[in-house]
Amino acid sequence: MMDDSLSPASVTDNLETHFIGQRVICYPTLTSTMDVAKQETQQGAVEGTVIIADEQTGGKGRMKRTWLSPKGNISLSIILYPSVVYLPSLIMLASLAVVHSIEAVTGLKPQVKWPNDVLVNGRKVCGILIESDVRGEIVDYAIIGIGVNVNLRPSDFPEISSTATSLSNELGKDVSRLSLIRHLLVEVERLYLALPTGGSIFEEWRDSLVTLGRRVQVKSGKTVYEGIAQSVARDGSLLLRQPDGSLTKIVAGDVTLRD
Ligand code: BTN
Repeated sequence: MMDDSLSPASVTDNLETHFIGQRVICYPTLTSTMDVAKQETQQGAVEGTVIIADEQTGGKGRMKRTWLSPKGNISLSIILYPSVVYLPSLIMLASLAVVHSIEAVTGLKPQVKWPNDVLVNGRKVCGILIESDVRGEIVDYAIIGIGVNVNLRPSDFPEISSTATSLSNELGKDVSRLSLIRHLLVEVERLYLALPTGGSIFEEWRDSLVTLGRRVQVKSGKTVYEGIAQSVARDGSLLLRQPDGSLTKIVAGDVTLRD
């Protein structure tokens, strides 16, 4: 594996951002970067602070699942203090930033599976978890957690090998985590700063979804829906056309493509 150790200086040196990634904290191993990021917000961490772990022992996924985070992958969390109106856009922003940076660094063409799994050749390479604390109209914090399978060998992890892949596995060679992280931070900032201009994040995210037009099963809480993923609403929710013709709006869930 390439020598690809990460340090705060290697990430921040000449990083072309104003605030995202200007303060970076690296840990060799952590339970979860989400927990440390949350503690950091309670100590008044500056916006754009990034927590990186080489390895997580209790990586958290969506829907209370665990997230495998061995060495060689990217596990990081970014602290933001957005206005409440931009919260729904963070999912779209984060998945697009990942797509753009994977494209730039590897030339691969990732797609998004609603709401924010990033796939390469139909298999998951990245998961995104957003945790926020909102009181009324005030956002205490929002933390974007990003986990990318960079140099993971799927065959070493039978529990995910049928649905997941990694960048190195798709390319046939190791990929620089440092380069990917630096691209990612620049891209997150660019998209974040563009939010007030009402830019085209929604349209681009919608157009990058593999899900639309496909027959899907969606698990949302204890409910399982089947139907055609017809479209997405501006708030990020999925509009599912069910067999009886009704259209159901699903705010959060897990999609399995059926065709
Ligand atoms: C998912 O697809 O279920 C989301 C996975 C999110 C994983 C990342 S890795 C960095 C950050 N720390 C965590 O514990 N989880 C997120």
